Amino acid sequence: MLMNCWYVAADAADVTSDPKGVHMLGQDLVVFRDSSGTAHCLSDVCVHRGGSLCRGKVVDDSVQCPYHGWRFNGDGDCVEIPSLGPDATIPKRARVDSYPVAEKYGWLWVFLGDAPEAERPPLPDYFPEYEAMEQGSDEWKFVRGTFTFEANWVRAIENGVDHTHAFYVHTDFGNPGKPTVDDYDLDINESKIESITYAKPVSKRGVWAEKIDEDRPDVKTMVRIYKPAPSIRIEMHLKPPMWQMIVSGYTPIDEHRTKVWWCHGRNFFTDDKYDADSHKRVLLVFQEDAKVIDFIQPAMVPPTLSDELALENDKHGIEFRKWVKEQELAGRALDIHAQGDVDEMVKVIPSPARGKDPKNWVLDTIPVKQPKIRQEAAE
Ligand code: FES
Ligand SMILES: [Fe+2]
Repeated sequence: MLMNCWYVAADAADVTSDPKGVHMLGQDLVVFRDSSGTAHCLSDVCVHRGGSLCRGKVVDDSVQCPYHGWRFNGDGDCVEIPSLGPDATIPKRARVDSYPVAEKYGWLWVFLGDAPEAERPPLPDYFPEYEAMEQGSDEWKFVRGTFTFEANWVRAIENGVDHTHAFYVHTDFGNPGKPTVDDYDLDINESKIESITYAKPVSKRGVWAEKIDEDRPDVKTMVRIYKPAPSIRIEMHLKPPMWQMIVSGYTPIDEHRTKVWWCHGRNFFTDDKYDADSHKRVLLVFQEDAKVIDFIQPAMVPPTLSDELALENDKHGIEFRKWVKEQELAGRALDIHAQGDVDEMVKVIPSPARGKDPKNWVLDTIPVKQPKIRQEAAE
């Protein structure tokens, strides 16, 4: 799992002045809003005696630990220790890690890492249709939800950009009559890995069959991974001008589970009455994927590319895998196995405040992974 990336932590609408616990990247975090509506994300572990802050409450714009009432503001600094009285000097180490947050596309994104603001990658900017809806456009209709894979996050993202599995896994859009994939190009830059492919359409089922008949050109599909906030945008052009897209944030819960935060948009059947059907179709796709990827071995992507037999048409996922390995080399992969006995010691992902002041913290940080295969990852 990588630090110094943005991850979807919650639906923005679910973040309120009631502290909410979130488990991601093996960490317990708390999110809450202060009285100005600004959202905050802190480590959930109170540095006094380990109280779980999300089980406390928000008092005067700070989250109050349910055990002895210490209060931590949005920056993670302790602002009150009730047992010491109002004039007490608060110890410097009375603070918890606070992580940068941003709200976009209806989600609360959290930056888990210590990079200072100038070095943080931007959030994705690949969902203009959603922003148009926020500005009042009714051209697009959206449904949203979550899905949890019992699979590693890199495995899950590779599945999201896998061009050859649909014929076997997805009966609604994979055409078993034409399982071959024409060669495709990758468009790669610092933040994205993108491909466009064309496939013979299949017959739609249910109510969609009324609008989307078989008499149509090859279906264009655009798939883009946005690397610094691990997420995927997929466009499926059905029958012009009808098309749909799905944007999904892939948040590792831990090494073995991945929570997908998805938002699906369509420019046909925009009446509310089709939302339930649309929602069901998206979930069916994830359920079909889960039947396969929840059982992949090894659970994690193996250390070298030659440990599996990748084909040329697997190159989209392989490029992402290479990028993850590069991040490992750059010291951004968390080594959760080296963090020791979690029943005895909590370790946290370092927050930006640690860069400014590396001392005066109670909890240690999780060590980063030492890459196993230097030369191949550097290829
Ligand atoms: S454990 Fe949080 S105030 Fe004591
Ligand atoms: Fe799939």
